[in-house]
Amino acid sequence: PIPALCAQYKDYFDIGAAVNLTTIDTQQELLAAHFNSLTAENDMKFERVHPEEGIYTFEAADRIVQFARQHSMKMRGHTLVWHNQTPAWVFTGADGKPADRDTLLARMKSHIETVAGRYKGRIYGWDVVNEVIEDKSDIWLRSSPWLDQIGEDFIAQAFRYAHEADPSAILFYNDYNECHPEKREKIIRLLRMLKEQEVPVHGMGLQGHWNLNGPSLDDIRAAIEGYAALGLQLQVTELDISVFDYNDRRTDLRQPAEEMLAQQAERYGQIFRIFREYKDVITAVTFWGAADDYTWLDDFPVKGRKNWPFVFDEKHQPKESYWKIADWRKEY
Ligand code: G3I
Repeated sequence: PIPALCAQYKDYFDIGAAVNLTTIDTQQELLAAHFNSLTAENDMKFERVHPEEGIYTFEAADRIVQFARQHSMKMRGHTLVWHNQTPAWVFTGADGKPADRDTLLARMKSHIETVAGRYKGRIYGWDVVNEVIEDKSDIWLRSSPWLDQIGEDFIAQAFRYAHEADPSAILFYNDYNECHPEKREKIIRLLRMLKEQEVPVHGMGLQGHWNLNGPSLDDIRAAIEGYAALGLQLQVTELDISVFDYNDRRTDLRQPAEEMLAQQAERYGQIFRIFREYKDVITAVTFWGAADDYTWLDDFPVKGRKNWPFVFDEKHQPKESYWKIADWRKEY
């Protein structure tokens, strides 16, 4: 028997998966068996739900929300304000020049009101603001039309609008490279500032796009402790463990090497052991997919190169990684 992952973790945190319209079909049984929370991988992003001013397209998002309800799964919202996958009209004024601050804020507000408002009571929490911290060490906030045309307070405003739209939603800031010490400190600086300004931010989303070698377990632990010290709940929102280092651009592998899978299993085991230790602050761990037959990493950073980042294989069978995280009572 293959124990349900979410049942194994019922005293710890939710186990989630990112989905799209293809995978809710092709991975339906696996999703229903092992996961009790879903995130839309792309279908709630600005360009998908609000492609033109005043025109909202919720068909795909609605289908995913409905799938979650049918299977009694929770639903997280992803994402309201991001520099990617946001259509150009949002940032453009009537004269074709960059929209001014007030116009852009008004557009942000009506977007958030409409999207978060629609799913009130069905989506329990939102990644309100995504990836605004710059990776380069000497810069704090990432340059984007949101920042450049509104100013730093676009972040606070997004959270305020989301809170108005759905006062009971748990509101997250979400980012990647979140365990890198320098970036961690920049994220903490932002979150601390928001808390001091009494901005309604309730959680930190650690994306968790990791690989076999990084981040180190010490950096993961330090990040969890640093964010938790702000009094926020934590969620791992986009977990995957690539079998390639970021700079490894090899394309010749048809199958993952045994050794990669063994290392990956070891790593999943260690990482989930840390997550369990922090179960009082971690409320959900969501994978950015469910099984190795589909992952965004098949197109990143090398287009068309297969990757095998999850705990279920291409046929939806449990990998060694699965047993390391599901059978941990035996291990330790
Ligand atoms: O849907 C179009 C299709 O019509 C078109 O023919 C095709 C040609 O490239 O592109 C398709 O869109 C792609 C889309 O995924 C759906 O597959 C986009 O090119 C591609 O850029 C897009 O990638 C998504 C990426 O966000 C965009 O930034 C990934 O699926 C998605 O997994 C990824 O998710 C992000 C999180 O939202 C935030 N954190 C990082 C994470 C990974 O990058």
